[in-house]
Amino acid sequence: MTSQELRDKFLTFFRERNHKIVPSSSLLPTDPSVLLTTAGMQQFSLYLSGKKDPVEEFGNRHLASCQKCFRTGDIEEIGDDTHHTFFEMLGNWSIGQDENGYFKSGAIKFAMDFLVDELGLDKNNFYVTVFRGENGIEKDEEAINIWLEHGIARDRIIECSAKDNFWGPVSNIGPCGPCSEIHYDRGEHLGCNRPDCGPNCDHCKRVVEIWNLVFMQYNRNEDGKYELLNQTNIDTGIGFERLLSILNESSSAYETDIFEGMIKKIEQSSGKKYKENKQAFRIVVDHTRSAIFLAGDGVEPSNVGQGYILRRIIRRCVRYSKMIGIENSISLGDYIFEKYDSVYPELDGSKQKIYSVIRAEEEKFEKTLKSGLAILEKQLENSKEGVISGEDAFNLYQSYGFPLELTEEIVSEKGFKIDKVSFLESLKKHQDLSRSGAEKKFGGVGKDAGEEGAKLHTATHLLHAALRKVLGNHVEQMGSDINVERLRFDFAHTQKVTPEELKQIEQLVNQKIKESLEVKKEEMALNEALDVGALAFFKEKYPETVRVWTIGDPQASEYFSKEICAGPHANNTSELGTFKIIKEESSSAGVRRIKAILIK
Ligand code: GLY
Repeated sequence: MTSQELRDKFLTFFRERNHKIVPSSSLLPTDPSVLLTTAGMQQFSLYLSGKKDPVEEFGNRHLASCQKCFRTGDIEEIGDDTHHTFFEMLGNWSIGQDENGYFKSGAIKFAMDFLVDELGLDKNNFYVTVFRGENGIEKDEEAINIWLEHGIARDRIIECSAKDNFWGPVSNIGPCGPCSEIHYDRGEHLGCNRPDCGPNCDHCKRVVEIWNLVFMQYNRNEDGKYELLNQTNIDTGIGFERLLSILNESSSAYETDIFEGMIKKIEQSSGKKYKENKQAFRIVVDHTRSAIFLAGDGVEPSNVGQGYILRRIIRRCVRYSKMIGIENSISLGDYIFEKYDSVYPELDGSKQKIYSVIRAEEEKFEKTLKSGLAILEKQLENSKEGVISGEDAFNLYQSYGFPLELTEEIVSEKGFKIDKVSFLESLKKHQDLSRSGAEKKFGGVGKDAGEEGAKLHTATHLLHAALRKVLGNHVEQMGSDINVERLRFDFAHTQKVTPEELKQIEQLVNQKIKESLEVKKEEMALNEALDVGALAFFKEKYPETVRVWTIGDPQASEYFSKEICAGPHANNTSELGTFKIIKEESSSAGVRRIKAILIK
């Protein structure tokens, strides 16, 4: 079955059962607290929580869609059988109830009818998971009974904890509920053969989840408490690529029509075989597709937020393309447009624009790689023992974006080795210094990350000062964390910061950015710094001599912010771009937390 046939079958099935088909929303959600669209329900959040009426908007409370999704948590896993960065999710919804609404039994019946009657899957290969009860919410006996009525054997109904079977909310707050998932046994040959192998097996991917049915009954509120919604909803999600590969009896979606053309093309132009280089081939085709979809939704490479994801995806794609010896991986994109431009109209006619965004980033990265390569050549020349020191390898990683495996590959071609132990030591030292969670997760982006970090440090000082101006001088820093994507600032304040206050704070920071204020550094004794009114918290941690950063007009005696900080910082607020608060939430009793980003 082709991808287009499966999409059509699903949407036709639900259309014929009185569902309104809603087009996919963008990969960039309207909810600013969420970076990317990760599930089909996101565009329906306000309807699911009862704040809006789906009948008013869609003429129907039963909806279905094929949604573009993107999950960044899976980047490191790309290359295996079941993960993708960009993927599609099929879903159906029953929002709120009237005499036509359906809940658990309706959702389970639709799922069984579609998978078994329509697609011809053997239900004896199914496992289903149900919520076993936790946190004051009862075990889902009702779902167990419905599955039994549909002929699922009792020993194939697995009771799972909230970790696996309580879904949502997408951000910390919002609609959620216990869920029941259909998993499919793909056969012994893919398994670990352990007696307890089954859904969510830690050792193999023999059994994979294909359809998640969420019985949405709760709302997680700002205090982290679960309150009953005034309505019940059905929210479901099928991993499109997984289902497609099962229907084609292939072990992964890379062996379906979606990617086949691209993989053949790579084989032809590289002379390498997919079977022998699966991971690299898969990364290249997965990332080519995701880069096109991100750029298609208007993302441009940058060092923050969605732009950073795109940058990372493109750079990874370039690296792995080089490893398999193909130069111009973007030309593979033609296959993506062929497959998708009739499904997603935003791609239609945008090819040149999307290519030019991606190409510009590739060129930028290629230059960096080139300088890195020249340095590596020198290191190879100078190395007497046939070993590249860990520090040198780390420098390539940190400043030129060379991942260890790329350096290793080049070095081993010349019969050299890398001192890996000292590489890891350098990496650890750097990570301890930068305290940058995202950098660890995303791999080195070298100097860029440093510059971005500096800007976010300066933005944190502006935010701190703005909070004190808008909310009062009781606001004190309780914690701060910066990574390449965002800043996080915890501060003493007992109430939720209202949307109006947040707006004022955001505007004040942006006003100070627009004023192009100088960011001035002075070194002085701690006592002196405190005397001149520099803000300081966690006092005990400061050394005797500290750096004081002042943001303000150097000609005037007034300043907007003065803080003790080990830095680094931007030179001028004008470098910061636009400041945007993406989340305000409770951190602990009496402490609020703000997350914010800088947009170029
Ligand atoms: N909202 C259901 C899912 O994403 O699995």
